[in-house]
Amino acid sequence: TWTMVNIVEEQLERIREQIGDKRVICALSGGVDSAVAGALVQRAVGDQLTCVFVDHGLLRKGEAEQVEKDYVAITGATLKVVDAEDRFLEALSGVTDPEEKRKIIGREFIRVFEQAAREVVVESGEHGAEVEFLVQGTLYPDVVESGGGTGTANIKSHHNVGGLPEDLQFTLVEPLRELFKDEVRKVGEELGLPPEMVWRQPFPGPGLGIRIIGEVTRDRLEILREADAIAREELSRAGLDRDIWQCPVVLLADVRSVGVQGDGRTYGHPVVLRPVSSEDAMTADWSRVPYDVLAKISNRITNEVREINRVTLDVTSKPPGTIEWE
Ligand code: XMP
Repeated sequence: TWTMVNIVEEQLERIREQIGDKRVICALSGGVDSAVAGALVQRAVGDQLTCVFVDHGLLRKGEAEQVEKDYVAITGATLKVVDAEDRFLEALSGVTDPEEKRKIIGREFIRVFEQAAREVVVESGEHGAEVEFLVQGTLYPDVVESGGGTGTANIKSHHNVGGLPEDLQFTLVEPLRELFKDEVRKVGEELGLPPEMVWRQPFPGPGLGIRIIGEVTRDRLEILREADAIAREELSRAGLDRDIWQCPVVLLADVRSVGVQGDGRTYGHPVVLRPVSSEDAMTADWSRVPYDVLAKISNRITNEVREINRVTLDVTSKPPGTIEWE
């Protein structure tokens, strides 16, 4: 629309003014905000930007590929990918406490990102320009919540994996500071990002790590990824993407129940569907997803994911339940 074109043009101008001919890096999380912020900066200053994507192995099916292939193809961004799955799984081994998981994932993220940022700094030094700026996908509600300050590190630990590397000093570039989520999505569309990327559900920084109740292992991640992909596919197919705020699929990895399939008895795991509607995630209500859609999801998950023999529905609002189970 006309106003979106204006917002984009104005931001591009401001970004160019702030960054000048310096170099800038952006951490892509797979989420909407960092993707749109990165795409804006790319449009503004081209190859002065290097995007860094830390793949912690806790993303959903197809998300890493979406960043590595589609995003690069559409934006033309220079991308440095760090495959850190082994490292994260090792650090998470034996851990079941939710806050402990968050702490570990945050800490590992900082370490891996710090190392990658150093490499980008060194590599760019060879081209004679220092990296001075870091892109953050801070939105207006985040600014309000954190007191409106700008600077080098006003990041809520809850909404971002980790924080900034302390000994790497960057000045923040925050092109989304004045926008609400729906405006960010429109800017993303204006920049040509595909609907699957722009209309993604909010996804927590610690990813599937906090949707496996129990220890996080490679096998369990694989099971959850399959079940989650089915739920997302069927909700999209039913046209519910924009009605549902998000729908965590939670694997109760330490629970087993008896089932029957074909001629045989099974002893598998349950998953919980947690579709919620919400304005801002502070409060939420469970979504009244049509029964036939739920039936389809349930049938497909129990047929296609061997280890899962039961699908349950969470009908708790927030409060008292949080959206995530951990
Ligand atoms: P809860 O579970 O607290 O979630 O009702 C509210 C919103 O925040 C997301 N969430 C997180 N996001 N790191 C994040 O980046 C986290 O540790 C985290 N925990 C919850 C959740 O997906 C929902 O959108």
